[in-house]
Amino acid sequence: MPTFQTVRGMRDLLGEEAQIFAYIFGKARNNAQVYGFKEVMTPLVEPLELLSAKSGEEIRQRMFIFKDLGDRQVALRPEFTASIARLATTQLKTEPKPLRLFSVGSVYRYDEPQKGRYREFYQGNFELMGSSKPEADAEIILLTNNLIRTLGLKDYAFKIGQVGVIRGILSQNGVDEKVQNAVLQRMDKKEYDAAFQLLNDEKSRIMLEGLLKIKCRNWQETIDQIKAHVVGYEKAEAAAKNLFEILELVSKSANLTINVEPAFARGLEYYTGLIFEVYIPELEIAIGGGGRYDRLIEAFGGDPTPAVGCAVGIDRIAIAMQTQNTILQAGEGKKVVVIPISEAIRVEALKIAQNLRVEGVTAEFEVMGRKMSKALEDADKRKFDYAVIVGEREFNEGNVVIKELAKREQTVIPIGKLIEKIKS
Ligand code: HAM
Repeated sequence: MPTFQTVRGMRDLLGEEAQIFAYIFGKARNNAQVYGFKEVMTPLVEPLELLSAKSGEEIRQRMFIFKDLGDRQVALRPEFTASIARLATTQLKTEPKPLRLFSVGSVYRYDEPQKGRYREFYQGNFELMGSSKPEADAEIILLTNNLIRTLGLKDYAFKIGQVGVIRGILSQNGVDEKVQNAVLQRMDKKEYDAAFQLLNDEKSRIMLEGLLKIKCRNWQETIDQIKAHVVGYEKAEAAAKNLFEILELVSKSANLTINVEPAFARGLEYYTGLIFEVYIPELEIAIGGGGRYDRLIEAFGGDPTPAVGCAVGIDRIAIAMQTQNTILQAGEGKKVVVIPISEAIRVEALKIAQNLRVEGVTAEFEVMGRKMSKALEDADKRKFDYAVIVGEREFNEGNVVIKELAKREQTVIPIGKLIEKIKS
């Protein structure tokens, strides 16, 4: 038999890495809870048509597509947004708005594998549906910031733009939507020459080049410059004004680094307003991204429903946490191993282990039948806090032996005092 490997771009997560992922999942769930987002779980496999409709060429070309045995064209989800928009047009259609929905899980893109870029990766995803107000955009930026902050990451920044500025210019100059999409996709990759070559009209080219040249000290000045640059382009002016309103709300209610980039574009086609990415300059990769998509739900056959959302890349956050040596906050408490001295006392020892778990203590029971010294050696090596040793004589007197492994101290204590001692 050959030795099997994982499929290219996909990984097993073990040990410390699995622990970090689980930690981030937990923090993402907790963040969802404090912002009032309810968790939903959607299928990993969706109709190809749904996933490819408005995602953009970039994602369409990188999907894992196959026919199921019923000859249906399906694909592995490359993101959550399409699935959540589908929910808003079906089961949740009549729910009162706004909807605040959270999901976490794996997504699949046939990207070229490298550090921080995988074909199977994990996202924590937040969607706020039903509001066109800047307050909703602000909430999405604030919750992203809160999640990254509570994970203990430092020196991260928000790169922010408003896709309505570029689209507003191009529409008013008569550039059709397909060309606009292609231009935005190239601008997302910073291939500006290739993007501008797609434009036949000189006016649009000069306008976009002008956006690229704007450089200011802070986001307020940058937006002022954008406004001055797009005078006469009504939709672009409105987009710049909208961005100012959003960022004023955000910056007055939290402390975060905001960089407005006038020529910032995203390859995802459904965005209609705010767009942003969170990145850590030292890593040069985005750890999250999002934006407003006011027409997606309608495009899926639902009622016109404005929406805004974001997704964080859990794999990349894990890399950032490792690079920045972020300490996981102890949420686990003490770890205990319970060892019966002989077979005769194993039922009683098992009951003690059970009681510890009921009280929320992590307790491993000795299931290998090893000698006491071996079991203790193992617990010591795996950095357990305590060993609870259950012997017949002590048990009959209502006691157990508790050994504090780091200090190598052991005492006999009443069984009733065990929890108190471990939690102290
Ligand atoms: P996205 O920017 O395509 O947005 O992806 C979000 C995050 O997923 C990225 O910032 C990055 O951290 C992570 N990511 C993307 N590709 C990879 C990869 N190949 N390997 C590892 N991590 C990756 C979306 O997916 C939108 N659905 C976000 C959204 C929600 N917009 C509105 N609502």
